[in-house]
Amino acid sequence: MTRYASYPSLVDRGVFITGGAAGIGSALVEQFARQGSKVAFVDRDAAAAQATIDRCRAAEAAHTPVFFEVDLLDIDALRAACVEATLQLGSIGVLVNNAANDDRHDWRDMTVEYFDDRINTNLRHYFFAIQALAPAMLEAGDGSIVNIGSSSYLMQEDMFPGYAIAKSAVEGITRTMARTFGPHGVRVNTVMPGWVPTERQLAKWWTPEGEAGTMRDQAIKRRILPDEFAQMVLFLAADDGAACTAQHFLVDGGRF
Ligand SMILES: NC(=O)c1ccc[n+]([C@@H]2O[C@H](COP(=O)([O-])OP(=O)(O)OC[C@H]3O[C@@H](n4cnc5c(N)ncnc54)[C@H](O)[C@@H]3O)[C@@H](O)[C@H]2O)c1
Repeated sequence: MTRYASYPSLVDRGVFITGGAAGIGSALVEQFARQGSKVAFVDRDAAAAQATIDRCRAAEAAHTPVFFEVDLLDIDALRAACVEATLQLGSIGVLVNNAANDDRHDWRDMTVEYFDDRINTNLRHYFFAIQALAPAMLEAGDGSIVNIGSSSYLMQEDMFPGYAIAKSAVEGITRTMARTFGPHGVRVNTVMPGWVPTERQLAKWWTPEGEAGTMRDQAIKRRILPDEFAQMVLFLAADDGAACTAQHFLVDGGRF
């Protein structure tokens, strides 16, 4: 039984989340649904998306999340999903740009094609989701955009330069668009996880040595869970975060 806050301003609020089928995105879908929000999410993994929807149903969420199968490399498909989600939800006041991929690679092996792939997978769709959904927020004079960043580029490690470079630019999107949208009541923030044990992290990258290093670096000596990370996103999406924009917030147990 958690003792997390409930936000009245999130009840019945339209929320659009990218990469909501698995990992942190799935926790975000569930946590918003538990707040009574109307959630639409996109992902390319339909099976995992169904499992997320089933969890929300089991939690007796007031609104069952709506799913669109989209590969975010396809910006036209993303745009179409934004239009359809707006129709189905009535309006969208919150966008959470979350989908990404942190595959490892050596900088010496980088090709022009793979560089483009890293940018398109981890950055390009963030901007185009904003371009698709912000106009209605600006018209309403109210909205919150949360870009999920990464502390990976702060680590100064050479595991995934393409991913880390793209993630550093998430900060640029946040600060640039926050200045553009601020006068019209629309906020833009970045939330950066530390190392969060999602299914994929545990299956692909988690090692006892890696975990020991993270525990050494974190002030809080335990794993930081997806649901805990989601709480910062809820706060920024809700009216409670109304004075916060153009910022980045680390939810990493005090690692950086
Ligand atoms: N988990 C961590 O430790 C960690 C650390 C730092 C930053 N992050 C950030 O948190 C966010 C979520 O990460 P996660 O660990 O939950 O990832 P994850 O791999 O567990 O989940 C990502 C989701 O996005 C979807 N996705 C990826 N590429 C897609 C595409 N092209 N089209 C459609 N869907 C796509 C996947 O299918 C999956 O459902 C990302 O922005 C990531 O950079 C995570």
